[in-house]
Amino acid sequence: MIRNMCSSWTLVCSLCSKIDVTCILSDEAENDSIMTLTGISVNESYGTYNRGLKADIFIKRDGIPYLGSVWPGPVYFPDFAHPQSEKFWANEIKIFQDALPFDGLWLDMNELSNFITSPPTPSSTLDDPPYKINNAGVLRPINNNTVPASALHFGNITEYDAHNLYGLLESKATNKALVSVTGKRPFILSRSTFVSSGTYTAHWTGDNAAKWSDLAYTIPAILNFGLFGVPMVGADICGFSGNTTEELCRRWIQLGAFYPFARDHSEKFTIRQELYLWDSVAATARKVLGLRYRLLPLFYTSMYEAHKKGTPIARPLFFSFPQDIRTYEINTQFLIGRGVMVSPVLKPGVSSVDAYFPAGNWFDLFNYSNSVSVKSGEHVTLDAPPDHINVHVREGNILALQGEALTTEAARKTAFELLVVSSSNGQSTGEVFLDDGEDVEMGGKGGKWSLVRFYCATENGSVSVRSTVVNGGFALSQKWIIDKVTIIGLDKVDGLEGYALNITKGANLKGGHSDIRASFGSNKRFVMVEISRLSILIGADFDLELKY
Ligand SMILES: *[C@@H]1O[C@H](CO)[C@@H](O)[C@H](O)[C@H]1NC(C)=O
Ligand SMILES: *[C@@H]1O[C@H](CO)[C@@H](O)[C@H](O)[C@H]1NC(C)=O
Ligand SMILES: *[C@@H]1O[C@H](CO)[C@@H](O)[C@H](O)[C@H]1NC(C)=O
Ligand SMILES: *[C@@H]1O[C@H](CO)[C@@H](O)[C@H](O)[C@H]1NC(C)=O
Ligand SMILES: *[C@@H]1O[C@H](CO)[C@@H](O)[C@H](O)[C@H]1NC(C)=O
Ligand SMILES: *[C@@H]1O[C@H](CO)[C@@H](O)[C@H](O)[C@H]1NC(C)=O
Ligand SMILES: *[C@@H]1O[C@H](CO)[C@@H](O)[C@H](O)[C@H]1NC(C)=O
Ligand SMILES: *[C@@H]1O[C@H](CO)[C@@H](O)[C@H](O)[C@H]1NC(C)=O
Repeated sequence: MIRNMCSSWTLVCSLCSKIDVTCILSDEAENDSIMTLTGISVNESYGTYNRGLKADIFIKRDGIPYLGSVWPGPVYFPDFAHPQSEKFWANEIKIFQDALPFDGLWLDMNELSNFITSPPTPSSTLDDPPYKINNAGVLRPINNNTVPASALHFGNITEYDAHNLYGLLESKATNKALVSVTGKRPFILSRSTFVSSGTYTAHWTGDNAAKWSDLAYTIPAILNFGLFGVPMVGADICGFSGNTTEELCRRWIQLGAFYPFARDHSEKFTIRQELYLWDSVAATARKVLGLRYRLLPLFYTSMYEAHKKGTPIARPLFFSFPQDIRTYEINTQFLIGRGVMVSPVLKPGVSSVDAYFPAGNWFDLFNYSNSVSVKSGEHVTLDAPPDHINVHVREGNILALQGEALTTEAARKTAFELLVVSSSNGQSTGEVFLDDGEDVEMGGKGGKWSLVRFYCATENGSVSVRSTVVNGGFALSQKWIIDKVTIIGLDKVDGLEGYALNITKGANLKGGHSDIRASFGSNKRFVMVEISRLSILIGADFDLELKY
């Protein structure tokens, strides 16, 4: 997993001239080449610049392209409000893809950010409106470090009117271009967003600082973006500006491993912060990223849900517990999907965390035998030693887990483990969405995908776990199997002898030689039953009954 956290390298890129980029964890494939796209370098030996001039595609001021300055030095900015801009952009991306195959594109500095502040046009009420903007909490002139408000887009639309749409329009053009060039679902990461950006791009929360306060701010930032309709979101792990510390980086990867979008990223002039540089950070990263990879089917299924219903991947607690008004103000914990709760340490020098638990039985995903049971919502002090983050799954959920691997591509080829969290009301449910990760529309018509729903009912002396499959053909073609079913949270079971497994639907291809092992949790209340050496095709309905 450490290979996803590679160090920075210098890339000569046709769209942005020479820049430094730090590699990214894209959750898509092994070779994630992603590069920053900013303004177009003003350089007569640069093809993109020349084609842009010819297409007359740049933002203008006083009748000529507006000259800004970004990483390549002097730049012109493509005008994504121009009707020909998508065609121009798609052609440039095609040329780039042909020269250097890449999996996704990273759109940075697209606020638009500019290293210079051009003087206002005299007496322009756009460049000098009767107010200041409160960017970063300081009253700044509107043109500060951006394209002047009096600059013009196609059709004489002023930058004043179009400024906030730049990142959205660039994301949309990039998405369209990548679909047409690759024929696959694109991966795009944009710093600037607007309403509806989540349709086209992922987002990271921009330049944070390597500070404990900024670690804590990442949770509300990510939850907000989920609610804004941008489900694929994360913050720079270990902090972007300033020097991180071993302890901060360790706590940050523990939390960041559960951001929908997870990458370690820092500013160029800080100390290095690759996770392997400190033994303690590397060890904790292996542990938490291992769980992230096992949970990828949950993240992915939550992405599918986001696509279908607009629900976030990372959710505030009130999303699942709206009746519990004490959840409304919680911004130090969050849920992945419906029922996995992350309760991180956000302060230095502590080894416990005060976490709120909505009513129910909750089980530690790192060690199922540890649980928390609360009748109504309660604050509980949990151990959080230096190498540990608390991640719990609530009763009533069924998770399809996969194996840990060095890449997402390898992880998605591993067998599934079904984690059934028995509920005190006797009913648990869950689902998993499966496709090849490349179909342009998730779950589209005629697409190659399967959706598997799981149900569990417990009655005295028997547990029945079954599935129903929509479009099973795709999962069957991948030969994906469930090789283990773990049932946790079984209450008040006397004795651990005499289990009988009866699979009445869905072949157990290993001919019934499954192992059944039961054990008590640490508080002697719940029983865990592990049924291993199974080989049930996930793409076909199955029905499994356990009697004791
Ligand atoms: C990634 O790059 C390596 C080295 O160039 C290559 O061997 C491997 O096949 C590539 N993997 C993918 C998924 O493209
Ligand atoms: C223009 O591009 C050429 C070729 O990439 C490069 O050698 C040169 O340094 C660039 N000039 C400027 C001013 O950036
Ligand atoms: C613009 O903002 C920067 C901070 O990014 C500040 O240092 C500078 O003084 C501002 N310029 C003006 C003209 O206010
Ligand atoms: C934009 O403004 C210029 C100068 O005022 C004018 O000549 C031109 O017709 C305008 N273009 C459009 C599309 O309105
Ligand atoms: C970060 O560490 C480097 C190397 O020790 C040092 O040169 C730099 O001043 C530090 N930066 C900050 C903001 O403390
Ligand atoms: C389960 O057992 C309890 C007592 O142990 C009994 O009251 C209840 O009726 C039983 N339920 C079923 C469905 O058999
Ligand atoms: C398995 O379940 C089926 C259907 O409920 C039943 O007919 C069969 O007798 C059961 N077999 C065992 C070994 O319990
Ligand atoms: C899980 O927790 C229990 C109780 O706290 C402990 O006895 C056991 O060793 C733990 N298992 C692992 C694998 O750490």
